[in-house]
Amino acid sequence: DEEVFKYYSEGEWKKSSFGKSVAIINPTTRKTQYKFQACTQEEVNKVMVNARRAQKAWAKTPLWKRAELLHKAAAILKEHKGPIAECLIEEIAKPAKDAIFEVVRSGDLVSYCAEEGVRILGESKFLTADSFPGHERNKYCLVSKIPLGVVLAIPPFSYPVNLAVSKIAPSLIAGNSLVLKPPTQGAVACLHMVHCFHLAGFPKGLISSITGKGSEIGDFLTMHPGVNCISFTGGDTGIAISKKAGMIPLQMEFGVKDACVVLEDADLDQVAPNIVRGGFSYSGQRCTAAKVVLVMDCIADTLVEKMKASIAKLTVGPPEDDYDITPVVTESSANYIEELVVDARKKGATFCQEYRREGNLIWPLLLNNVRQDMRIAWEEPFGPVVPVIRINSVEEDQNQMHGCVFTKDIDKAILISDATETGTVQINSAPARGLDHFPFQGLRDSGIGSQGIASSINMMTKLHFLLHPRD
Ligand code: G3H
Repeated sequence: DEEVFKYYSEGEWKKSSFGKSVAIINPTTRKTQYKFQACTQEEVNKVMVNARRAQKAWAKTPLWKRAELLHKAAAILKEHKGPIAECLIEEIAKPAKDAIFEVVRSGDLVSYCAEEGVRILGESKFLTADSFPGHERNKYCLVSKIPLGVVLAIPPFSYPVNLAVSKIAPSLIAGNSLVLKPPTQGAVACLHMVHCFHLAGFPKGLISSITGKGSEIGDFLTMHPGVNCISFTGGDTGIAISKKAGMIPLQMEFGVKDACVVLEDADLDQVAPNIVRGGFSYSGQRCTAAKVVLVMDCIADTLVEKMKASIAKLTVGPPEDDYDITPVVTESSANYIEELVVDARKKGATFCQEYRREGNLIWPLLLNNVRQDMRIAWEEPFGPVVPVIRINSVEEDQNQMHGCVFTKDIDKAILISDATETGTVQINSAPARGLDHFPFQGLRDSGIGSQGIASSINMMTKLHFLLHPRD
């Protein structure tokens, strides 16, 4: 009887009545590594009923007690960093050191969230009527923050642990219950992380992790009337979820074609390694990865040479040995990256390295002289391929979604940042989420709402008003 990882409901690990499972293919070996339960819609319904019940009691649990349990879970999570990182290596081919760092960072996030929550939610606002023209001090309003109810968390494969706890911790400290839908790749890492919360002793039903096929439970979950908030990070499915979800608060983060703008006065010795790190860490599979370089023509040749030297230092190999470039997450992902590379070759891009692929492993590739008619100029490869487009002025650049600006002229950087249609702009540093407590957001097709510890706690609550007339 082969092992199929169980899903988590009512404080217990359970087998689905469906009797079916989903396979997780190891990106490196391309063989089945793990299997998990394919849950049914009926099982989703049960989880929702229990989540609602558990939330009612949890909302009455004192804030300091909620924080205490989160601190406990954070410590257990850090203790389990070894085996969880192993899952990240096997399921998503994350380099070993990055995998450990993801778990440790997640433990810190949970603790920070507990502390921040105690401060944010421990305060209420008190309004008096006489601040509004024509009124006496004869009425008071007490404004406090209360939970939304049941939060549905959907993290991506790229950070299955970190981007799950960044939804779980704020939702729990705010008094909500949490239903987690792990991604296929990274599901076992997610389940192990949930086990740490289980060991911390959270009440039954407060946290659940329902696993399965998107086709069976995806829409059913996101359109479920029992869900009061969705927090999602991932790709285009998020846009479909946003359109289908009911009238509930959404916190959505999608990818974007993050552009790095390099002006003529930039310090190219600093720019080159920075963009290479931004473009190639975790083999370019980050929603914040540097996905296109827009460089002033007069310095383009020098920058490309320096980037080539930086790329030559990247090591390529399996994740357990901590290579920089590791296999991309799935075969279809590797095929898509290859499609963009082939299109760029056909349309005349200059290849700075030879294109090389073995299975899901793609060697780092810098494409020079990319033009706007090539797909790679606009589409996100989510892989280790970075295109360089030459520009003569910032105005001529058609990509208004800058993630970063490299220049010594801070005024110019601020001007460009102001004209930019992105939620986050970095100056002299490649695009990245920043630290977990910094606010982070995308605009337009790149997301809804802000993330970051304080922003998430606030968005996972609603205001409650208590009015009192005075004689
Ligand atoms: O993959 C999407 C993440 O939000 C990117 O986070 O910039 O910390 O790698 P990061």
